[in-house]
Amino acid sequence: AHVTSWTTSKGEELFFLSRAAYFEAEKPIRGGIPVIFPQFGQGPLPQHGFARLRDWEVARTSVEEDGRVAATLQLDASPETLALWPHPFHLELGVCVGAQTLALTFRVCNPGNEAFPFQAVFHTYFAVEDVRQSAVYGLKGVSFIDSLRQNAREVESRDAIRFDGEIDRVYVGAPHSLRIEDAAAGRRFYIEKERMPDVTVWNPWVEKAQRLADFGDEEWPRMLCVETGVMDPAYTLAPGETWEGVTTFRVEER
Ligand code: BG6
Repeated sequence: AHVTSWTTSKGEELFFLSRAAYFEAEKPIRGGIPVIFPQFGQGPLPQHGFARLRDWEVARTSVEEDGRVAATLQLDASPETLALWPHPFHLELGVCVGAQTLALTFRVCNPGNEAFPFQAVFHTYFAVEDVRQSAVYGLKGVSFIDSLRQNAREVESRDAIRFDGEIDRVYVGAPHSLRIEDAAAGRRFYIEKERMPDVTVWNPWVEKAQRLADFGDEEWPRMLCVETGVMDPAYTLAPGETWEGVTTFRVEER
């Protein structure tokens, strides 16, 4: 359940995928959209949880009346997940491709008898021509947790977030609409999200890229992660309940 590629009708790639990415069981894929559940970042579980490491099943596929193509994938608890995290769950990832849009729906169901907390994130790697000429709009006035400064909390004061070094921040309670401008490519990504309040902005820059085994040393200028989901605080799902979050991307070219 990992979108590794999204292209324009001309075939131009819109998602970053590292040339060093692993496509192996039990390893995450460096690029596209890793689906993060039930833990974001570090914690008792493996980094970013286990959903991105599991094999999901195709539940259904369809062609919508308006021509969009949709697929739903699912993942249920198994002895392996229960050994890591003692909760029954049912996950569904809906992927719906339109002419200029890609819509993702993440559904988390709690079929058990006890509530559980979770974090759920689309860890999207956008392809940009040059991150140093790119900007993210829509986060002014939003408070963020800066993991490069001992998780210090600050409020974003800029209209345009530009990049001149490593960045790793969780923006808490961000607006529903965001925009990425990739000036060098003449491209804009519009991000619309529902019930996914938080946004992480990440680029490893030079040194962290060198430390990541599945990331080419020279690849950092060509990617920008703008991740949408439930990060801080975690969401608590009552027995029998379902949570659903949606993120839609739209690309616009000059
Ligand atoms: C981001 C985190 O979401 O994911 C970063 O904020 C982390 O701290 C990055 O480095 C990549 O994580 P991973 O596990 O895919 O290497």
